[in-house]
Amino acid sequence: MNTIAITGASSGLGWQLALGLADKGKKLLLFGRDEGRLSQLKALVEAKGASCEICDADLLHPQGVQRAISAIQVFRPSLLVHSAGMGRYGHFCDLEYQASSDIIRLNVLSVMEITHAWANLVKQEKMERPKVIFIASVAAFLPIPSSNAYGASKACLVSFAEALRVEEEGKIDVLTVCPGYFATNFQRRASLAPLGDPSTEGARVVAEKIIKAIHKKGVYTPFPWSWIVPLRKLFPKSFLMRLLEKLLLRRMQQVMKKSD
Ligand SMILES: NC(=O)c1ccc[n+]([C@@H]2O[C@H](COP(=O)([O-])OP(=O)(O)OC[C@H]3O[C@@H](n4cnc5c(N)ncnc54)[C@H](OP(=O)(O)O)[C@@H]3O)[C@@H](O)[C@H]2O)c1
Repeated sequence: MNTIAITGASSGLGWQLALGLADKGKKLLLFGRDEGRLSQLKALVEAKGASCEICDADLLHPQGVQRAISAIQVFRPSLLVHSAGMGRYGHFCDLEYQASSDIIRLNVLSVMEITHAWANLVKQEKMERPKVIFIASVAAFLPIPSSNAYGASKACLVSFAEALRVEEEGKIDVLTVCPGYFATNFQRRASLAPLGDPSTEGARVVAEKIIKAIHKKGVYTPFPWSWIVPLRKLFPKSFLMRLLEKLLLRRMQQVMKKSD
């Protein structure tokens, strides 16, 4: 039986990936912090004919990471998808330091620690065609003022994943996905107003694209956001950075107005 582990399954992209990958004969191991949401998703996944285990684990804490690793050691997934992630809007110096360090801890360090344990497990067991998918972001390609640590975390993730892909060639397949914007709870949690209603189908569309591209290796930027890569060659970097900051600022002001 194919076992698939997904972090960040309780919301947004992770949720949609779980639904899209749920199939008869598959087993899903789903991580998140919200047990209620995970139980809801488990019922939906099981209704599609897959079996499902859920594990609530706060990946900002060492105990949560260990809990996730223990579950991975028990259920031995051949596909591991890292979708858990967070951001926070604001200038680095204006935010409490904890906000930035948490972003790095969740988006990078917990991902590396879980991947390390999983990769050694699948290699030791000589598992057939193991694969890891990292959900990074187009933010990896351009430093973003006001989303400083987030962009840095995703750039770090892309670099880490690409090196891992080459190190483990022929043993573990590595795919890094760099989506652009889609409305989820992510924006609200990052103090940004979503461009659309988080209940809309943005995350489902991105999940479908990822599932279609699941055989790929290397860095994959789903359309339409792939334009951001050539854009870097057409305009000066500082111009693009200021433009992105302005767009983010406008979103932030919308949040402030709503909460007044
Ligand atoms: N939305 C976008 O525009 C966008 C664009 C590019 C890349 N991405 C990336 O896509 C991934 C999924 O984002 P999303 O938009 O689906 O966001 P989301 O709806 O906020 O989902 C984030 C997921 O991460 C989990 N998570 C957050 N903090 C956690 C913690 N401390 N421990 C364990 N799990 C934690 C959440 O679990 P709880 O529900 O338990 O909090 C949730 O399941 C992220 O890596 C994000 O950086 C998003």
